[in-house]
Amino acid sequence: MYKFPKHSLKYKLDDEYMTPYYALNGLFEYVNIDKKTKIWEPFLGDGGSVEKIKKIGFSEVHAEDINFFECTAPDRDTVLITNPPFSIKKQVLEQIINVLKWPKFALLLPVCVLFTRYFHDIIDRRGDIEIDILVPYSRIQFLKNGKAPGKCSFDSCWIVSGIKLGETKKGYHFMPPWTTKEL
Ligand SMILES: C[S@@+](CC[C@H](N)C(=O)[O-])C[C@H]1O[C@@H](n2cnc3c(N)ncnc32)[C@H](O)[C@@H]1O
Repeated sequence: MYKFPKHSLKYKLDDEYMTPYYALNGLFEYVNIDKKTKIWEPFLGDGGSVEKIKKIGFSEVHAEDINFFECTAPDRDTVLITNPPFSIKKQVLEQIINVLKWPKFALLLPVCVLFTRYFHDIIDRRGDIEIDILVPYSRIQFLKNGKAPGKCSFDSCWIVSGIKLGETKKGYHFMPPWTTKEL
């Protein structure tokens, strides 16, 4: 996983909570993304999410162990799917939505983000963006060292843009029960 220099403030924050398989599987079962689509996972972490996305059936996953804010972005038709570091979620949202203006993305973030002034401001500044909120069937328990400690005290949701969601026109979606509880 990307290592910040020791003098960096961010180095001290613990962002090492990885996405369980069922959370990614639930997303890909709900949205309408062809398996031939290229996926971009910009926050590699322990590499588990890339393996899980591949296991779901996406063979082309762009993922590099480098600083997201300094990386060269892949083709713009690549769909950005990630659980980003929560300690810098505001900067990540700003980068994806207003700097890169990335056309298609799904970001797994704490629900409290939706109620923040900064999220409203980021969306307002972009102006032309449409956002869908996908509410998972149950609280996602993030993985620490490959295990789910089961102590996650907050709910998270998928913040989605530019991805087809089938017939429904609603912007706020309650996702169906998990079809797997695999970590
Ligand atoms: C919440 S974890 C999730 C990892 C993976 N995306 C997943 O879903 O399992 C976020 C990861 O991003 C890493 N990270 C933090 N800042 C980063 C940056 N600027 N560029 C790339 N990775 C970063 C953290 O060290 C951590 O491993």
